[in-house]
Amino acid sequence: MITAQENSTNQILPKLPIKPPIPRWLQTLRVLINPIYYLQKTQQEYGDIFISEFGGFPAQIIISNPQAIQELFTADAQLFYSGEGNNTIEPLVGTNSLILLDGDRHLQQRKLLMPSFHGERMRAYGELIRDITKQVASQWNIKKPFVARPTMQDISLQVILRAVFGLKEGERYQQIKQVLTEMLDSFNYPLSAVFLFFQFLQHDLGDWTPWGRFVRRRKLLDKLLYQEINERRTQVENQGEDILSLLLSARDENGQPMTDVELRDELMTMLFAGHETTAIALSWALYWVHYIPEVRDKLLQELNSIDIANADPTTITQLPYLNAVCSETLRIYPVAFFSFTRILKVPMKFMGYDLSPEMRISPCIYLTHHRPDIYPEPERFKPERFLERQFSPYEFFPFGGGNRRCLGMAFALFEMKLVLATILSNYSLELLDKVPLKPVRRGIVFAPNGGVNLMVKEKK
Ligand code: HEM
Repeated sequence: MITAQENSTNQILPKLPIKPPIPRWLQTLRVLINPIYYLQKTQQEYGDIFISEFGGFPAQIIISNPQAIQELFTADAQLFYSGEGNNTIEPLVGTNSLILLDGDRHLQQRKLLMPSFHGERMRAYGELIRDITKQVASQWNIKKPFVARPTMQDISLQVILRAVFGLKEGERYQQIKQVLTEMLDSFNYPLSAVFLFFQFLQHDLGDWTPWGRFVRRRKLLDKLLYQEINERRTQVENQGEDILSLLLSARDENGQPMTDVELRDELMTMLFAGHETTAIALSWALYWVHYIPEVRDKLLQELNSIDIANADPTTITQLPYLNAVCSETLRIYPVAFFSFTRILKVPMKFMGYDLSPEMRISPCIYLTHHRPDIYPEPERFKPERFLERQFSPYEFFPFGGGNRRCLGMAFALFEMKLVLATILSNYSLELLDKVPLKPVRRGIVFAPNGGVNLMVKEKK
């Protein structure tokens, strides 16, 4: 059990997890170049709780042991900071982002945002998700290759902008789409995210530097978001069911509305956390379904058993094999390899170790999802494992857990299933990548190398 120790912080706490004798610079290089190899090798040599040191960051305890993950996710959230550990993305999402908040402010903001991603509110987006999918897919030409990742990103970005923000089609909508896509594409290569991790690279030396380009795009995106916020503030009668409307009408305990900067930061958070992640998961799902013909056949058989075009979205999202395919997709190559780091506020006993304040614990989703004792033949894509067994939230946690569990989890799964079902029931696709695809870094997430090349064989 995690317990806060009563002794003062001056106490010497000697028993710590093992720290591999590898210099910090070498660990950083290895994790940047080939994170899977680094993580697996270190786990094999040093076990499922070890200390790593990367870049200019404080040391972190990496855990991939379900018992340790349970201890962490079920512990009193007041014993940790989590927002503080996410400072790397502050240049993108701003200081008021839910992702960076802690304590009461974090709790309040979560309560405010949560309803938009659940229940009736979410189900109301079903029709829109199917329409956007059909509209994007209608641009595919028979026998012409396309890359799944940018195409899925087009779908998920439109879903966020229209369903979640309530944006209307038009010039601003197109501009936001373009700038955001360019911004995220600048993280296309494994080392291009490096400037997020090292503050000394964050100098604006003009358009030709990655940071300079990033700052200019962010400025343009901010301008567009502030324009939208201002316009919507004045259209009280046009308030819809979207998140922006909800946030515009929210008041704090003193009756004060959110400021423009607070609103901008939360919009950026949803854009940033909500669409590329879902697009990557969808690209992997399309890859696996077409890479293993038996999976495709089984899934099509299930989809053909209902009238996808007219079925209630909930009927689709409850299909067991479709659910198993999505779960296995998120298990084998989780979009985020880690959930947020938890930073200790007080001394703690954790899994028998005596940890001192400021120590950091990072649950590793990738390593846990590849434990052969939980997932036999972990490198094989086998949706059936999710039909045969129920995994605990400490064995399977592609969306993290505890008080920071992904706010958009239900929404992302809902969207994934509807998009997949719509595409597969309308198109016969062929996978052009004949070699096994591996995940590569895109910013702080991991996407299929090359983006998954597909071709439309025929329209059904
Ligand atoms: C397949 C898609 C997605 C994956 C794999 C994913 C994964 C994650 C993970 C691993 C975390 C960290 C949780 C933790 O540390 O315990 C997280 C947090 C978060 N996600 Fe997602 N996410 C996805 C989609 C979305 C969507 C669609 C939205 C919203 C539109 C969203 C919004 C957020 C937010 C706001 C947080 C921070 C929660 C907090 O700090 O309280 N995510 N997500």
